[in-house]
Amino acid sequence: MAGRGKIPRPTVKRLSLYLRELENQSTAGQTTINSRQLGDALDLTDAQVRKDLAYFGQFGHPGIGYQVLDLIAELRRILGTDHPWHAVVVGAGNIGRAVTRYGRLGGKGFEIAGIFDSDPEIIGEAVDRHRVRPMEDLAGVVGEQDVKIGLLAVPAEDAQLVAEALVAAGVRGILNFAPRRLVLKPGVPIVSVDLTVSLEQLAFAISLTEDGAIDG
Ligand code: NAI
Repeated sequence: MAGRGKIPRPTVKRLSLYLRELENQSTAGQTTINSRQLGDALDLTDAQVRKDLAYFGQFGHPGIGYQVLDLIAELRRILGTDHPWHAVVVGAGNIGRAVTRYGRLGGKGFEIAGIFDSDPEIIGEAVDRHRVRPMEDLAGVVGEQDVKIGLLAVPAEDAQLVAEALVAAGVRGILNFAPRRLVLKPGVPIVSVDLTVSLEQLAFAISLTEDGAIDG
């Protein structure tokens, strides 16, 4: 199998899309799927699907396609979500609480180990099955529960310092909701989620269709 580091980023992104689609198919009772069906569901060519999966070895059987459950297991293994990942949330505001309450993360292999905040007014409040904990508890929870992921949901001006605190506590990668570019030591992956950027992209795409510049 090729080293994970050499897999193109767009391919890795598509693996998550394949996995989600396969989980939907499995829920709908589908047991096998071929690359054309999988590609059609995601607006991709069957060649693209085969090329992406070929990075990781030979799956599927000529004429039959892929066993849905086998491919789900394989994709989870490749993505590293075949074992639970523990994550902490820092910032118990709107975003932090919404993520912590989102019950389906567990089913996708991500367990929230704790939610933290610096505001003494809200420390101790219940969020789902958690109580908001003080920042002083962060390193202990990260160490005890082998937490590898930090979800950063604090205001932009606090994001850099909190990200550094997460890394110092031992987390290995950060999902950043704050609209601020983080600078961390090499080897700490950061993935940023920004609704505004997505909405701007959508607004731009809609404007183009309204101008008649592109088709649907
Ligand atoms: P919020 O104001 O409701 O909550 C922020 C929480 O962070 C507060 O409870 C505050 O006490 C806590 N906090 C502040 N400084 C801290 C520190 N140094 N250590 C620990 N906790 C600290 O904010 P909201 O609405 O939940 O937004 C959170 C972040 O997400 C903001 O940066 C916001 O701009 C961003 N955001 C991102 C979106 C996205 O699509 N990624 C969408 C909306 C907001």
